[in-house]
Amino acid sequence: MKTFVWIAGLSALMLLSAPVQGQESATTNSTVPAPAKKASAKKAAAKPASGGSATKTAEAQGQHDELGTGALENDAGGLSNPHPGAQWFPEAGFGLFIHWTMSAVHGGADASWSMLANKPWLGDGTITPNEYWGLTNQWKADRFDMDKTLKAAKEAGFKYAVFVTKHHDGFTFWPTEYGEIGTRQTFAGRDFVKEFVDACRKYDLKVGLYYSPPDWYFDREYRSFSLKGPYLDVNHKPSTKKPKPAGHDEARAELVRNHVRELLTRYGKIDLIFFDGGRAEMPNSEIRKLQPGIVINKRNKDVLDKGDYGDSEGKPPEVRFKGWFEFNDTCWPSAHWAYSASDNMDDASTVLCNLIKMRAWGGNYLANVGPCGSGEVLPEVYAVWREIGQWMAHSGESIYGVKGGSYPEKATVPVTVKDNVAYCFALPPHQGYVTLQDVKAPKSVTLLRTKTPLQYEYTNGVMRLQLPPALRTRLPDVVKVEF
Ligand code: GLC
Repeated sequence: MKTFVWIAGLSALMLLSAPVQGQESATTNSTVPAPAKKASAKKAAAKPASGGSATKTAEAQGQHDELGTGALENDAGGLSNPHPGAQWFPEAGFGLFIHWTMSAVHGGADASWSMLANKPWLGDGTITPNEYWGLTNQWKADRFDMDKTLKAAKEAGFKYAVFVTKHHDGFTFWPTEYGEIGTRQTFAGRDFVKEFVDACRKYDLKVGLYYSPPDWYFDREYRSFSLKGPYLDVNHKPSTKKPKPAGHDEARAELVRNHVRELLTRYGKIDLIFFDGGRAEMPNSEIRKLQPGIVINKRNKDVLDKGDYGDSEGKPPEVRFKGWFEFNDTCWPSAHWAYSASDNMDDASTVLCNLIKMRAWGGNYLANVGPCGSGEVLPEVYAVWREIGQWMAHSGESIYGVKGGSYPEKATVPVTVKDNVAYCFALPPHQGYVTLQDVKAPKSVTLLRTKTPLQYEYTNGVMRLQLPPALRTRLPDVVKVEF
């Protein structure tokens, strides 16, 4: 079914046809133009290994195959959450993902994945599991400052944040009563989850928690740390598979249930939970009882309640998605989630272009940061966020509380819409015309950044203009068209 958004006062069907959240939209085969990009691991798109779409990086595809989340990829469409408490999600648009793991101490090893040998995807560093977990001995958190980080994130225009409370490596970032590795053992019980939640509340960001049910520490004696070739143990020594003792899997499931229960009952209102692989060991219905109105991602393999939004990882989707959707992205060309010393963050233009592509189809963008071993977020990250914040100050109205527009069916550039306004995005290196088809004559056409009136042509329902080079920047430029 296709639903059309009507502009008040217009009698003709407008360009602004957009899928209503949660309902099926027309699918197109068009591709959103990609912004210029540094040479990057992210460029290597995967061949689908298990029926997933080819819109992921080889790395994301390989990881999802290992975690078993890949099979859900084609099931991403049409999700939403009608609860009044969840309606912030499609309005918000821009979220911050925070991956901090002990691998940051190393600086060349990605979160958890670096402890696997013989990976079929591009390098994310390889160290043995024992070396990986041993990094806790040098791990300092003396510069972990969520107040500073989330204040800057708020100023950059992020509306929600999602903190990794436990990755596949098993380390818990709160002083849980359960499990063997976490802040209780390494940081004298410091509660990083609480510090994160408190800072979110202080700066009015919606609170999201990421939790990975797989636990490679708990399973360390009974799994191979090689994805291909011979079975390798925690020191990457060839070994043979040991049978799990009776009750092992049930004990792991109980551990996960206890963790999830703690996370959802210790910190007041949690707005979003992001599971990643395996099962949360409790159905989404139970999670909704613990946190009414919570937004749940689609990765909890619950057949009765699939969650509230679909996602793509590492690359923006190439075809229009259905329902609530989020693109989560490392924001580092290496495609590492955790801090990587030899790499630099995507620039502001790249981040904004990704955000715009998602908003133009009604989706969200979850942009990652990986703090260093000390917990510090690098100055270069703050610099990029500042530039984004400056852009938001003049053009943010085109991003928040908007719906997706009709790009590429009836527009030559991505478009968002709100009431009687269309926002058209000239993404660098844009050349040529900004064109909208099937529209009424505009009442005004301006450059949002400067409010400068722009000259345009209007004939037979088609509006078009060329942006004067002198008004262009190296960031996306937004043309505001009022009808
Ligand atoms: C993947 C990866 C993981 C990352 C997550 C974010 O499934 O396993 O490292 O945290 O995606 O979406």
